[in-house]
Amino acid sequence: MDRIVFFSFLSIFSFLVTFSDVMIPQKHVTALPLSTNSRWIVDENGQRVKLACVNWVSHLEVMVAEGLSEQPMDAIAKRIVSMGFNCVRLTWPVFLVTNDTLGSLTVRQSLRSLGLLESISGIQANNPSIIDLPLLNVYQAVVSSLGDNNVMVILDNHISKPGWCCSNSDGNGFFGDQYFDPDLWITGLTRMASMFNGVPNVVGMSLRNELRGPKQNVNDWYRYMQKGAEAVHSANPDVIVILSGLNYDKDLSFLRNRPVNLTFSRKIVFEVHWYGFTDGQAWKNGNPNQVCGRVVDNMMRISGFLLDQGWPLFMSEFGVDQRGTNVNDNRYLGCFLGVAAELDFDWALWTLVGSYYFRQGVIGMNEYYGVLNSNWRETRNSTFLQQISALQSPFRGPGVSEVHLHKVIFHPSTGLCVLRKSMFEPLRLGPCTQSEAWNYTPQKILSVKGTYFCLQTDELAKPAKLGIICTDSNSKWEAISDSKMHLSSKAPNGTAVCLDIGYNNTIVTSTCKCLSKDNTCDPESQWFKLVNSTRRSSTMTKPSSLISSILNFPAKDFLWKFLGSV
Ligand SMILES: *[C@@H]1O[C@H](CO)[C@@H](O)[C@H](O)[C@H]1NC(C)=O
Ligand SMILES: *[C@@H]1O[C@H](CO)[C@@H](O)[C@H](O)[C@H]1NC(C)=O
Ligand SMILES: *[C@@H]1O[C@H](CO)[C@@H](O)[C@H](O)[C@H]1NC(C)=O
Ligand SMILES: *[C@@H]1O[C@H](CO)[C@@H](O)[C@H](O)[C@H]1NC(C)=O
Ligand SMILES: *[C@@H]1O[C@H](CO)[C@@H](O)[C@H](O)[C@H]1NC(C)=O
Ligand SMILES: *[C@@H]1O[C@H](CO)[C@@H](O)[C@H](O)[C@H]1NC(C)=O
Repeated sequence: MDRIVFFSFLSIFSFLVTFSDVMIPQKHVTALPLSTNSRWIVDENGQRVKLACVNWVSHLEVMVAEGLSEQPMDAIAKRIVSMGFNCVRLTWPVFLVTNDTLGSLTVRQSLRSLGLLESISGIQANNPSIIDLPLLNVYQAVVSSLGDNNVMVILDNHISKPGWCCSNSDGNGFFGDQYFDPDLWITGLTRMASMFNGVPNVVGMSLRNELRGPKQNVNDWYRYMQKGAEAVHSANPDVIVILSGLNYDKDLSFLRNRPVNLTFSRKIVFEVHWYGFTDGQAWKNGNPNQVCGRVVDNMMRISGFLLDQGWPLFMSEFGVDQRGTNVNDNRYLGCFLGVAAELDFDWALWTLVGSYYFRQGVIGMNEYYGVLNSNWRETRNSTFLQQISALQSPFRGPGVSEVHLHKVIFHPSTGLCVLRKSMFEPLRLGPCTQSEAWNYTPQKILSVKGTYFCLQTDELAKPAKLGIICTDSNSKWEAISDSKMHLSSKAPNGTAVCLDIGYNNTIVTSTCKCLSKDNTCDPESQWFKLVNSTRRSSTMTKPSSLISSILNFPAKDFLWKFLGSV
């Protein structure tokens, strides 16, 4: 009943919503170089820069950035931008810069030596200017093309001997392995750092991908990583220096009680990798809530704690089979995206690559983890891109505090957020850029910031609604299950319900599903995350702030109280 009175009261403001102008977000110009401020990466003006990168492979036997036989370099760079990425983690092998015979091979020679004649004609057609250039110059040309398109680059030393990475026994795993001579590695890092000194879009260098194998140990990690970091910094003091952990870049736990000891500061970032297969088939074989809870706890314990200690953490590899057929990957992704939104860390997706010239003995291998199709023109899965799009801009951090801290209700499996198009439509999912600003109170009430509205459940399988009597149990929301990703409340008759997605992306409540034990069901439609945000959304512009200021007008107070008693 209160709703009817309430809506007719509000209808007088409807024109404000209808005839409002939409705010166009201003394009932010990044002032390079980058540095760090506590757990944030910031630009020269102290503004947060969130790395939303994609990995571009250039460390395989051919030693040429993949895809140049399919599309012009500039077209690929523009595609990266159009997909919402601001940065590329561009891989390279040590031997490319330490072995002159390799570095001075031309693209044509490199491809011919591997029998890749089709790739030669492909590059001749799409990137004729590079076909007879030495490999090292081609690497520079790719960086430069990305720079022309305002794409930042992180040079990632992925391996020593060119080829697919990584196994425990490939001789590239740890200092002292067959192909991993620490001195040669320092030489390579130094050359690379010097070569790109003064190239502004090269904003960072990661020292070594996925340390691993039987030789790995903590003392050598400090000994060589600190040496590598100093070498890079003295050759190129502008770049941020990115240090990876042990055990395939999962484990940085040793840093908890023994920080790195370096001569410079405000340039150090740690990187970590997290895939579905990091935990074998656990996601597929277990209950997704229980696996998510367990895996996230572990991640926080061995790497995530660094954020709390005031270090930036760069999730430099994550990704899924984008065909959507891998259950293990799919379940992992929902959990991952929730954590990525909540912690708002920097990241790099594996991978840009649609197909490889030559990988693991296969010519033209398709890459199902790639955002591009094998033709390097179309995107592989627009659903996936939609899912990660909310993570491509910062939720908070220095310079992002345009509005007061609030929550957005993020729904990982769609990549959308809970919002209301108008007072007269049910709550629904929509772009996070239009998210409602929510307040989550100690009384567990989710209210629209600056108003008296709170989220309420009505009955099972009915739309969730906004009400103004927020004291009953149908207005109290709790994050439940091991994953803490189900938002649960009690229907007026006392039945526990969970927030869910109904027809046409409306927000409904339904029976909480597969909270524990059951390994076969998929809870993802009920997975939500309350994410801290200080970013402005387009619903917070003139019209709604006007409405909320009217709703907040002190004289209206008794009116609300009156409505509450109707
Ligand atoms: C450089 O690479 C070539 C080709 O792989 C190899 O034959 C040669 O031994 C390498 N040189 C050094 C100094 O490692
Ligand atoms: C840090 O390194 C410096 C120079 O190598 C050394 O003098 C100092 O003792 C080290 N500090 C710690 C805490 O290890
Ligand atoms: C894209 O991913 C979704 C979700 O995993 C899946 O359902 C869909 O089939 C995929 N589409 C294509 C074209 O692979
Ligand atoms: C509460 O209402 C729902 C329908 O909205 C019904 O399915 C459920 O059985 C009811 N529970 C109780 C305890 O009455
Ligand atoms: C689905 O929702 C949109 C608003 O987001 C609305 O315009 C459209 O009419 C709805 N479609 C149906 C079939 O209800
Ligand atoms: C979100 O903000 C609240 C209030 O400042 C804080 O207690 C909480 O730790 C924050 N959550 C995260 C994940 O940073």
